[in-house]
Amino acid sequence: MTRRMIVGFLIVCTLIAGHTLVALGADAAHFAALQLTRLDPAVALPDRRAPTLDGQEVSLRSFQGKVVLINFWTTWCSWCRRERPALEALYTQYQDQGLVILAVNIGETAAQVNAYVLQHGLSFPHVLDPDMQVAAWFGVRGTPSNFLVDRSGNIVGGGSGYRDWATPAAHQLIASLLVQGGAPATETARTASWHRADPTHAEQVQAGQAVYAQHCAVCHGANLEGQPHWKQTLPTGGLPAPPHDATGHTWHHADTLLFKIVKFGGQSGVADPSFQSNMPAFQHVLSNAEIWAVLAFIKSRWPPKIRTFQDRVNAREQ
Ligand code: HEC
Repeated sequence: MTRRMIVGFLIVCTLIAGHTLVALGADAAHFAALQLTRLDPAVALPDRRAPTLDGQEVSLRSFQGKVVLINFWTTWCSWCRRERPALEALYTQYQDQGLVILAVNIGETAAQVNAYVLQHGLSFPHVLDPDMQVAAWFGVRGTPSNFLVDRSGNIVGGGSGYRDWATPAAHQLIASLLVQGGAPATETARTASWHRADPTHAEQVQAGQAVYAQHCAVCHGANLEGQPHWKQTLPTGGLPAPPHDATGHTWHHADTLLFKIVKFGGQSGVADPSFQSNMPAFQHVLSNAEIWAVLAFIKSRWPPKIRTFQDRVNAREQ
């Protein structure tokens, strides 16, 4: 479905909202309470990449498995400012259950957005839309504009203009989306208790394998083999992705350091500030439980000797 069709659809939905409510069930009532248009059928999120504030890029699709509230905004839009505290509260409350708030800034620089984010103490992820390509795709006609994406990566609704995200209606809408579409295995109450990486825990290893295939294999190799010549600096700076199997040196490090590297990126693992890391931070993509799970999976692939070695490294850390 093209962007124009979405805009068209939103308008049509607004016109016939009264009628669709009945047909769509309880969920539609949650959208209606916030005066958001529910898209039925939902529209798949486009495979677009957007620059992050730290100069990396993220694909809109990389949040698949989460519920994503996409919020289009600018620093000078006062209604956007009014939305911020409630958005931050929503994110803090539901992040662990799989909510991502993705703020898409229209047309401003990373420096402008960074300053604003710091000043307002916002912890949810921000991306830039310098040439307004993303906003154009969504048919955004003003800020703020909000769109909701379900766990399978489909845009399920949205609307233009300010919304009060602190209201019970807003919380109900988010909660109703979080329980839908099958929470990923790693987001259940049981897995939330994973605070360490245990390679003998079959369920954790299996969940970690899925995380690895989706988020890590692209660089570290489907078989943990890493990229070729991983010890040689690239012409573009930094290093290629190292293996995570016995031939690499991941196993020289304690679990706590590995966790930190995955959560906060490669830069967090080295003392040298001039080091150019090519290892992205996953703090806005993976939950803590998912990070522990992927480490459990990596560890499960090490031969016993190497596991024993790394157990000792861990013991020394305690
Ligand atoms: C875009 C490519 C890329 C992706 C995706 C990626 N990594 Fe990395 N990773 C790297 C690179 C490159 C390094 C080498 C160090 C650096 O540049 O910071 C690295 C280093 C690491 C290290 C430190 C290894 C050591 O020996 O010090 C760990 C642990 C790690 N990655 C885990 C992961 C996990 C787990 C995932 C998936 C959730 C992942 N990486 C996804 C590129 C990537």
